[in-house]
Amino acid sequence: MRAMIEAIAWNDEYVRILDQTRLPAEEVYLECRTIDDIAGAIKRLSIRGAPAIGIAAAMGLAFLAGRISTGNRGEFAAQAASISAHLLATRPTAVNLRWALERMAQVMHRFQGASVPELQELLKQEALRIHAEDIEINRSMGRHGQALLPDDAVVLTVCNTGSLATGGHGTALGVVRSAVENGKKVFVAACETRPLLQGARLTAWELLHDGIPFELITDSMAAVYMKTKRVDAVLAGADRVAANGDAANKIGTYALAVLARAHGIPFYIAAPLSTIDRTTASGHAIPIEERSPEEITTIAGRPVAPAGTRVWNPAFDVVPAELITGLITEKGVIPAPYTENIAAVFRRK
Ligand code: MRU
Repeated sequence: MRAMIEAIAWNDEYVRILDQTRLPAEEVYLECRTIDDIAGAIKRLSIRGAPAIGIAAAMGLAFLAGRISTGNRGEFAAQAASISAHLLATRPTAVNLRWALERMAQVMHRFQGASVPELQELLKQEALRIHAEDIEINRSMGRHGQALLPDDAVVLTVCNTGSLATGGHGTALGVVRSAVENGKKVFVAACETRPLLQGARLTAWELLHDGIPFELITDSMAAVYMKTKRVDAVLAGADRVAANGDAANKIGTYALAVLARAHGIPFYIAAPLSTIDRTTASGHAIPIEERSPEEITTIAGRPVAPAGTRVWNPAFDVVPAELITGLITEKGVIPAPYTENIAAVFRRK
């Protein structure tokens, strides 16, 4: 398998982000140095996918905190908190953003006696740790998840859940990668994922990169695909899993879960524990990001609807827990009943 794709990398001069809005046409790397560079990259989806957004926020905070020029700890903490609040406001659904920023805030609380230069180094180390741990977590998730697939599997997936969406390897796509590494034959049916085509632009790009066989379908073909072809499992990622197992993911995932149930196909969510938000009781309480109408009314800048057309553009939907066959995590596959079983996994952690 080829070298792992790196969506984000630390550099003492800047945070390097592979601009996913330009893929697959161009492989362009952004050099983010300011709060607007980093917040803009997250908002614009130059970097996207729940774990990758968390890593970008942590690295962004560490990088910008490293440039705060005060020796006063209180002043430093106030400026770091303001950067953190700015980054937190970029995207509301992916809870990994909040999770990563909370981990960074804990560093500030834990090392009360540290000087400003020491804190700057500790924050950098924590951001790098969040990144490195995410890759390990994805690999564990992959190991657990691949065991669910037959030796010759057809997997239907949505959005992009691979190296581009994480520190590396991926969540749902990481399960596919692990199955292939384990000698299984896997064929992927990738939904294009309107409106921003993360499936067509990014998942297809990653699968080609790794030489994993696949075919691309439009989202509206999923039903007939399940009916007329073989699908062994639907694998999706998540931006936030509520305490009861309801899972928010890219718009269209709910439809796939309903279709999977109708066709008797197992439907799995692959997500790290950092995506499980036990402070959100159910999917009703998950904030759903609404994005600009132009994402629907234009394709690659060209209008595909008359000017003035009214649009509803929620970026995510929620799969009710009862449609989920299992939650693939780094600690194993969590089965229903989710409220009890999720709580038990966190107790053991
Ligand atoms: O809007 P995006 O592209 O950030 O949405 C991403 C998804 O919905 C992914 O499926 C999710 O973050 C899990 S990926 C590891």
